[in-house]
Amino acid sequence: MKKILHISVALIALIALTSCAGDTKPSIQYMPNMYEPVGYETYGEYEVFPNQQEALLPVSGTVPRGYAPYEYPNTTKGSDAAKKDLKNPLKVTQKNLDAGKELYTIYCAVCHGDKGDGNGILMQREKILGIPSYAAPGRLITQGGVYHVQMYGLNSMGSYASQTNELERWQITQHVMNLKATLEGTALLVPEAEQESVGVKTHNEQTH
Ligand code: HEC
Repeated sequence: MKKILHISVALIALIALTSCAGDTKPSIQYMPNMYEPVGYETYGEYEVFPNQQEALLPVSGTVPRGYAPYEYPNTTKGSDAAKKDLKNPLKVTQKNLDAGKELYTIYCAVCHGDKGDGNGILMQREKILGIPSYAAPGRLITQGGVYHVQMYGLNSMGSYASQTNELERWQITQHVMNLKATLEGTALLVPEAEQESVGVKTHNEQTH
């Protein structure tokens, strides 16, 4: 009788101890689908995927939303060609000029200054040096060139291709051309008769 008691005490102790083992998973799941997703987790590891990685690269040839191909390469030759041949597809409208000014103030003025004379706050504080005025002699500033430098950056100036879309880069370009004209005392871009269209449609604006 005593022996049975001993054995059962030992058994109960054993069950009590082992039932707590393996605490990575709850021991009993009532309706496990409520806890464990049926679909694959975004960054989960699963046998069915190459390298067991659920997060795959986009299919080759995939084009991101709002992306437009840019055919001028990031080389001196590409830059020269863009300066010469690339034209602003946007109409000059007050809307484009205003948007360009606003975006310029956000992205460019810290270095290039509100007037485009190369005297932005970072230049004044000597954080970045060698920022040119848009009217600097020897620099060929054309609309194509302004767009190109926003795509790729130039030395200590970074690229703005990921912060801005095509439409915005051309709007900024119009404003830069007007800053240059003001510095040089030449003719400004004047808005055409106002039309609703801004000229270029980005993918996001297109109706689906
Ligand atoms: C971090 C400071 C900085 C910011 C911000 C910046 N730039 Fe620049 N930018 C420079 C410097 C420095 C150069 C001169 C690069 C060189 O020639 O080595 C330059 C050069 C240029 C040039 C002359 C390119 C050429 O072909 O000679 C243009 C045009 C220009 N920037 C436009 C812009 C526009 C538009 C923006 C905003 C979208 C902008 N920059 C933002 C620092 C900056």
